[in-house]
Amino acid sequence: MQKINRKVSVAPMMDCTDRHDRYFLRLMSKNVMLYSEMVATKSAIHGDRKKILSFSPEEKPLALQVGGSNKLELAEVSKIAEDLGYDEININLGCPSKKVQKNMFGACLMKEPNLVAECINAMVNSCNIPVTAKTRIGFDNTEDFEYLNSFIHKMNGAGCKTFILHARKAILTGLSPKQNLNIPKLNYNMVYKIKEQNPDLEIIINGGISKIDEINNHLNFCDGVMIGRSIYQNPYSLVEIEKEIFGTKENPTREEVAAKLLEYLEKEVKLGTKVNHIMRHTVGLYHGQVGSKDWKRYLSDNMMARDSDFQKAKHIMTIVQNNEKANLASA
Ligand SMILES: Cc1cc2nc3c(=O)[nH]c(=O)nc-3n(C[C@H](O)[C@H](O)[C@H](O)COP(=O)(O)O)c2cc1C
Repeated sequence: MQKINRKVSVAPMMDCTDRHDRYFLRLMSKNVMLYSEMVATKSAIHGDRKKILSFSPEEKPLALQVGGSNKLELAEVSKIAEDLGYDEININLGCPSKKVQKNMFGACLMKEPNLVAECINAMVNSCNIPVTAKTRIGFDNTEDFEYLNSFIHKMNGAGCKTFILHARKAILTGLSPKQNLNIPKLNYNMVYKIKEQNPDLEIIINGGISKIDEINNHLNFCDGVMIGRSIYQNPYSLVEIEKEIFGTKENPTREEVAAKLLEYLEKEVKLGTKVNHIMRHTVGLYHGQVGSKDWKRYLSDNMMARDSDFQKAKHIMTIVQNNEKANLASA
């Protein structure tokens, strides 16, 4: 089996992968690709752009994920993304929520290959950054290789060369978004077959992946792996990914990550950011470690309130140092 590529990305996740989370994740990995939460075209065009679309240069390489099905709006947002310095624009064709369906974007667009192709074509013609698509392998009663393959060919004909395939179908009625992330069965073979039959396309596999040997195995069949929940729950697993997948020798300890985040926190608080908006993403920093409970308790007692005080954040380094010592002693 030929090793094709070694691309790993962190999945777009609403209410999770905002700019503060991405900054935090980047402290642990230089090599993974990061994605924004989904932004609706109308919000990107008419909303508070600074609030919705701004990011720190450290977060790059970074993709903006957009939700929409109006080709003019999608084209406009693609240009905005390029002008702001995003490295990729990704269209969401996988979200099954009712609200998203009502607005005609996300997974329901899998039923509209021609419309999707028109949208992608408009996006490709309006910017010079890669336009990529994130989709499911099917919807409702349609979990069919030929359907998915032809959908991908349509999008490829319109100028999309990279496809992120969440390896489970979406059930558009009767399941909540959360259930839609767990109940439909994973079908990795369908994704492998897409890559096998379309060797020139970049195929990134997503869904239920967390361990290094799983990542390595998928990389035997696909160009890349996208990981969502397991990285949010255990962000320091990015350091293992750096070591084992990218061969990075010098990696930060948790203590170093916390110290760097504290510097960022101090700067951001001066700009008006609330402490809890940053610290809420760090709950999993000690996942599976001695001291994990102390860390979580300290965060919930001191850092999670709307009016959390930065002075209390300074005490974090004491907790971190104690945890570090405890983990070294238990090793
Ligand atoms: C809290 C949460 C929010 C999500 N938001 C988005 C989103 O904005 N756009 C998107 O394409 N997928 C979204 N997803 C789906 C993930 O990107 C990913 O496809 C899914 O979680 C499967 O990957 P995993 O098993 O590695 O978590 C979300 C998932 C979760 C758990």
